[in-house]
Amino acid sequence: MSKIESLFSLAGRVALVTGASRGLGWAFAEALAGAGAHVVLNARHAEALEEGATKLSDRGLAASVASFDVRDEAATATAVESLLADHGRLDVLINNAGVIKRADLADYDSGTWQHVIDVNLTACFRLAREAARPMAAAGWGRIVNIASVMGLIGRPSIPAYVASKHGLIGMTRSLAAELGPRGVTVNAICPGYFATEMAQPLMQDEEFNEMVCSRTPIGRWGDPGELAGAVIFLASGAGSYVNGAALAVDGGMTAVL
Ligand SMILES: NC(=O)c1ccc[n+]([C@@H]2O[C@H](COP(=O)([O-])OP(=O)(O)OC[C@H]3O[C@@H](n4cnc5c(N)ncnc54)[C@H](OP(=O)(O)O)[C@@H]3O)[C@@H](O)[C@H]2O)c1
Repeated sequence: MSKIESLFSLAGRVALVTGASRGLGWAFAEALAGAGAHVVLNARHAEALEEGATKLSDRGLAASVASFDVRDEAATATAVESLLADHGRLDVLINNAGVIKRADLADYDSGTWQHVIDVNLTACFRLAREAARPMAAAGWGRIVNIASVMGLIGRPSIPAYVASKHGLIGMTRSLAAELGPRGVTVNAICPGYFATEMAQPLMQDEEFNEMVCSRTPIGRWGDPGELAGAVIFLASGAGSYVNGAALAVDGGMTAVL
């Protein structure tokens, strides 16, 4: 392995990716497995995860499944315990599972608000807490929180989503301060508009599609595979001095007006 290859290599590392059954989570899982990590795939529905793990192992990559609802605190703790029992280590956590709910403020009910905050923010806090224990004990770890450009700017009718992603970037900075001295870096990736299932209704909306393409200097939606470089960089030795950052991968959208 060349010096550069070993800088970006995740050989021997174990990574947990939440929301890994489709969309960006699947892209993150593919990228990390491709860089040599054993990837533990999480989401609520086990079947899609089993299919994903089989796809990866058919390519000679290492993967297993841990299906649980990230809103469930006890299930989260049990899953991390059993991951540690199976592998003896947890090196990388990708807090990716997320939901978005749209409604005008007048119709935005508290249950919907709470659901979004629970998945996009509270679950990330609990997973980070559970993962940080073995990482700090080992003196090496990487936590990557998947925020959004909506963690940097806002849009109408998604107040809980925007609040959760701003909160996630704030939490990233707090954890970076606390865990940095213990060898654990904590960073956020802020994706712009990517073509996933979550984004389907927006892609089919002609006006919104036009807004994304004209507002993004690169002029189009992102392909989930275009996040691979950012996640491997932050999860590997290559990102060893990057801590507390919120890295926009958005085709330049938040850099311009
Ligand atoms: N797509 C974009 O353009 C974009 C842009 C910026 C940021 N992001 C962020 O990127 C992340 C992934 O987005 P995506 O577009 O890939 O979404 P997606 O296609 O809707 O996939 C969401 C994933 O999260 C899982 N999930 C949802 N609720 C869960 C829960 N309670 N417990 C465990 N897993 C759960 C889903 O599987 P199950 O349903 O089986 O649980 C699925 O695997 C999110 O945090 C999102 O906010 C996306």
